Amino acid sequence: MASPRLKYLSLGVLVFQTTSLVLTMRYSRTLQAEGPRYLASSAVVVAEVMKILTCVLLVFKEHSYSMRALNSVLRQEIIHKPVETLKLAIPSGIYTLQNNLLYVALSNLDAATYQVTYQLKILTTALFSVSMLGRRLGVYQWLSLLILMAGVALVQWPSDSASEKEAPSAGSQFVGLAAVLVACFSSGFAGVYFEKILKESKQSVWVRNIQLGMFGLVFGLFGMMAYDGERVRESGMFQGYNMVTWTVVALQALGGLVIAAVIKYADNILKGFATSLSIILSTLISYFLLQDFDPTSVFFLGAVLVIVATFLYGYEGKPSPNPSRA
Ligand code: C5P
Repeated sequence: MASPRLKYLSLGVLVFQTTSLVLTMRYSRTLQAEGPRYLASSAVVVAEVMKILTCVLLVFKEHSYSMRALNSVLRQEIIHKPVETLKLAIPSGIYTLQNNLLYVALSNLDAATYQVTYQLKILTTALFSVSMLGRRLGVYQWLSLLILMAGVALVQWPSDSASEKEAPSAGSQFVGLAAVLVACFSSGFAGVYFEKILKESKQSVWVRNIQLGMFGLVFGLFGMMAYDGERVRESGMFQGYNMVTWTVVALQALGGLVIAAVIKYADNILKGFATSLSIILSTLISYFLLQDFDPTSVFFLGAVLVIVATFLYGYEGKPSPNPSRA
């Protein structure tokens, strides 16, 4: 059983990271950009490189800063165990697919519908945790997940002024919704699959993350050349980068590390609570600092539901013993 200190620390850092990422992204939208905008596909690649480098540093630290030990553990675990390494291609490929599906969803749906429907991933994650990890959830916990899903959906519910924008066509809505639904299943599956790999072996979470990141980097490079190859050849992959872009990319890389720590020391379901709380937190901070949001009573009802759900989930206390030694 992982130490409770690491569990709550990793969840706390996740709330902090998600909140800062959302705020920085909103802030970057309010800035007057000069020259070309940065390429999102390039940001994905740079974030993967940062993640891999940081994980290598963390493994280096785990081995008391010995170059020899680092070299040998990377060789043994990554190169000499190709089957173990290949297992990570599955969540990595699914995450890449998911990131693209969400792009399709956002281009075919309005942002609010997208955000609200994507919350279904709270339930798919719970279903995969039960079926793949043998986790057992009590009635109160299922109920709290339903309340959490409803709460986050309400928090993101568009206010009247926002919903007056022109609605996407029915066909486009269908494509968008289908993309979100598939992304909900892929998010639940990839997260729980990664959790299974982490919890079934003693291998360091950072070595696992290097394996995941290597595939992510390869898929990301393919994605960048497929979507933006022309522009990269013209003006390079760092076109449009400024300080805010670097901050967003660094926060995204930090996100990958924190999510891995949360999955290892807590679990995917608790991760859902942490990100839901940070949605409320970033919305409130955005209201006070950036004044780009007008909270409605629906928002407050949603926020109360998220908080109630969080307490209710813990209320039943100890989850039943988990046969998959989580
Ligand atoms: O929406 P969801 O919570 O499934 O998104 C998880 C995100 O975290 C994905 O974009 C995935 O690429 C990223 N991730 C990561 N490193 C991990 C696990 C997830 O970068 N070890």
